[in-house]
Amino acid sequence: MSDMLPKLFFEHFRPTRFVAECNDNILGFIVRFVSQTSSDEAYIHFVGVHPDFRKGGLGRTLYGRFFNATSKLGCRVVRCVTSPVNRAPISFHQRMGFVVEPGNKTVDGISVFENYDGVGEDRVLFSKREAGSARNSWRYSVGLAPEIRRNMRAKCC
Ligand SMILES: CC(C)(COP(=O)(O)OP(=O)(O)OC[C@H]1O[C@@H](n2cnc3c(N)ncnc32)[C@H](O)[C@@H]1OP(=O)(O)O)[C@@H](O)C(=O)NCCC(=O)NCCS
Repeated sequence: MSDMLPKLFFEHFRPTRFVAECNDNILGFIVRFVSQTSSDEAYIHFVGVHPDFRKGGLGRTLYGRFFNATSKLGCRVVRCVTSPVNRAPISFHQRMGFVVEPGNKTVDGISVFENYDGVGEDRVLFSKREAGSARNSWRYSVGLAPEIRRNMRAKCC
């Protein structure tokens, strides 16, 4: 993971990270930012959940908080990108309501943009648009195990 998370994200994107902590242990995090090109778009650079806590609703919870914060910043579109070999994040983002942008090639049934990140580096592009302008319309239900939810605090830090 370290190649995806150079220190610059921890130095220069501090206000736009979400970290889920439980008893001072980091269980999951999102590194995201508002696009400098389009102020109504947010981009998720990376999401990670501790292996012991996956498939327990933590990723969904983090995304729910993130969508609400993003909406308050005036963002109407959230984008993220992954490699077609990353099946788990592809399924996860589809479950989170992201749609796959139509690309110019299909890999294992998924539409991709060929050579998007360089020669041989095809990518799946996801987007999620806010449905309506109602405040908190991104809100997600929290499916986290109660014992984790009780002890967890998600913070923007
Ligand atoms: C992807 C990741 C963040 C998901 O976090 P998580 O806490 O396990 O996700 P949740 O438990 O909140 O699951 C949310 C939904 O995604 C689905 N999902 C999660 N992991 C999945 C997987 N490996 N395969 C298929 N579906 C998956 C769940 O079934 C759930 O759907 P549902 O609520 O509709 O039933 C986590 O697996 C992870 O950290 N992976 C390694 C890092 C990574 O690949 N990051 C993405 C880089 S692009």
